[in-house]
Amino acid sequence: MHLEKKIAGEKAVEFIEDGMTIGLGTGSTVYWFIQKLGELVSKGLNVKGIPTSKNTEQLARSLGIPIVSFQEIDNIHVAIDGADEVDEKLNAIKGGGGALVREKIIAEFANQFIIVVDQSKCSKQLGNHFLPVEVTPFGWQGTANNIAAFGCEVKLRQVGNKTFISDNNNYILDCYFKKINDASLLHQRIKMLTGVVDTGLFIDLADMVIVGKGNETEIIKK
Ligand code: A5P
Repeated sequence: MHLEKKIAGEKAVEFIEDGMTIGLGTGSTVYWFIQKLGELVSKGLNVKGIPTSKNTEQLARSLGIPIVSFQEIDNIHVAIDGADEVDEKLNAIKGGGGALVREKIIAEFANQFIIVVDQSKCSKQLGNHFLPVEVTPFGWQGTANNIAAFGCEVKLRQVGNKTFISDNNNYILDCYFKKINDASLLHQRIKMLTGVVDTGLFIDLADMVIVGKGNETEIIKK
């Protein structure tokens, strides 16, 4: 799995061109893409990165990748990110690392969105992985009850004995559904609830998925 993440992440540099502004995802698969990008930058590649989390910003800066913010750019040419689960239509569940809101803002804004995963993340129908939902801390118990009414068990994400706080100073509710029949409808319903910032369902956003399989990669396009 570790090797498959590395192979998938590194493959994504093949889609990078000089002059691009690149959305930099978060997690242990895209980590390999960022490492490789750092190598290319040190050899003269001229690109800019816009990070989806404080952790990624720190990593990219440590590798010498120039960082920009939304105020400084007109567009993002491509965004590369990992996922917790991807189905055959390239819909995904993300947010295992708690960065789903910034990840979705960047994925939506990018001209092209590429997901990098190892093959354990691929499934026929979304629902194997729990669904992370970012919510406001105020009233989170009420929001959790409203989400639970859609048929899941809801757990407030903790790190050790502390509540996990997102980069946007919000909480993450991890929602355990037995099955997700209609991911798009579920996303719409949850997103409509007051207190919900966004869900980890990335519907119709990815243009391509790079899957690490053994020593090779498989590219799945829309
Ligand atoms: C971060 O919030 C997530 O969306 C990650 O992209 C996702 O959890 C994949 O992470 P790994 O590549 O570490 O499995």
